[in-house]
Amino acid sequence: MGEGVLNRPGSGVPDPSAPRADSPDSSSLPSPAAEGATPAPPGDLGRGFPRVQGELTCRGLSLGGLAQRFGTPLYVYDAQGIAERIRRFQEAFQGVELLLAYSVKANGNLAVLNRIGLAGAGADIVSAGELERALKAGIPASRMVFAGVGKTAQEMERALEVGIHAFHVESEEELDVLEDVARRRGVRAPVGIRVNPDVESPTPHHYTATGHATSKFGIPVTRALELYGTAPERPHLWFRGIDVHIGSQIVAVEPYLAALDTVLEMVDRIRAGGVELEYLDLGGGFGVGYRGEAGLPLERLAAAVTDRLRERGLRLILEPGRSIVGEAGVLLTRVLYRKESGGKRFVITDAGMTELLRPSHYGGWHRVVPVVHDPEALEATVDVVGPVCESGDFLALDRPLAHPEPGDLLAVGTAGAYGFSMASNYNARCRPAEVLVENGRPLLIRRREEVDDLMRGEVIPPPTPPESGDDTP
Ligand code: LLP
Repeated sequence: MGEGVLNRPGSGVPDPSAPRADSPDSSSLPSPAAEGATPAPPGDLGRGFPRVQGELTCRGLSLGGLAQRFGTPLYVYDAQGIAERIRRFQEAFQGVELLLAYSVKANGNLAVLNRIGLAGAGADIVSAGELERALKAGIPASRMVFAGVGKTAQEMERALEVGIHAFHVESEEELDVLEDVARRRGVRAPVGIRVNPDVESPTPHHYTATGHATSKFGIPVTRALELYGTAPERPHLWFRGIDVHIGSQIVAVEPYLAALDTVLEMVDRIRAGGVELEYLDLGGGFGVGYRGEAGLPLERLAAAVTDRLRERGLRLILEPGRSIVGEAGVLLTRVLYRKESGGKRFVITDAGMTELLRPSHYGGWHRVVPVVHDPEALEATVDVVGPVCESGDFLALDRPLAHPEPGDLLAVGTAGAYGFSMASNYNARCRPAEVLVENGRPLLIRRREEVDDLMRGEVIPPPTPPESGDDTP
């Protein structure tokens, strides 16, 4: 590998808007031009992040400027985009009484949660940690639903104490524990059973399908009906609703309608048995356009759902995560090095699987585009890889990209959901900063971690002396 490849420009943070120090041909890598490459068209990131005079922006701020100011890797979220997506749900489903319970796991930053709460949404939580985050962000407990197959008695205690809307119970044993906890506290626990409707949901990866019979989620229909039938003998449980969530990143309406059919039929039977359910929770999972396409046609889903709920006097709960924040976030990363091996070209960036796990874990496809369009840059097919010591550490594979140079900035699109929230400290890497762009202002909503943060809570005990009486020499 020649020096041209490893030679980083200048010291400090390179200015992405500065003219290139050398032409694409000055690198010791074989020139993409030699293989008949063409100048790359400027890749785009879609709504909220338009390219202005060649540079990606967010609400009038240059992404290059944000990277310069806050460093990289950096998550940037568009507050207006988040608000607009919440409004889209509220408008589409205005024909029914709706509780929009934003799925905190998609992006649990306190400021993001706060703005989502201010827009009128509640929260779908899956742990005491998410409960406390949502509370701290100002989301009222009465707008929270608590899902997850492994809630502990302690988590139930806390959720009862603050008064959440409902627990979505996923097993009979969990229901028994919840009943015990409620009895001990002398209260009634609000419950909806999460039903496993046994539908195949077309998710891009089997890890994110949850509605089939063999998944760990939910309770099969017949057993769930029997459990609702126990309501009269269980004064400490308040069977308030019913819940289903069939998976994530689903772009077709039909699987939702199949699940809805199953659950509505259950509602009718449960009510006929004298248990007055108030709400139906259809879960989340509404797909977005990672490649710039439209995603799930929400209005079509709403049209199919609204009347059927209204005629039964049922309230609707939805638990969108990705469809609220996914497209409203990008990850900015700087190119460190390039190299070539085995006929492959690698672009090595300062972000990888520790910042955005989706490509590695689910084969998730995200747009990766240069922040500053260089009309001279020639397109090459590259693997964009991170610095983590794993071959599975990549952001994009075999991707045509305007061949970047060290110091150039790349933007990874649709990274607002399951980006930072799945970031890790593997390889003792500090998690990135997060910035919320609101009314044209960049607000630092999470500072970049420092090495001290990584070691917080760890102790080095002095070497333990042998136990007295121990006669080992
Ligand atoms: N409700 C429940 C009960 C869930 O389990 C989930 C997501 C949601 C709502 C929200 O789903 P969304 O609207 O965000 O698709 N890490 C994966 C996605 C895992 C989803 C887990 N549950 C990914 O990056 O694709």
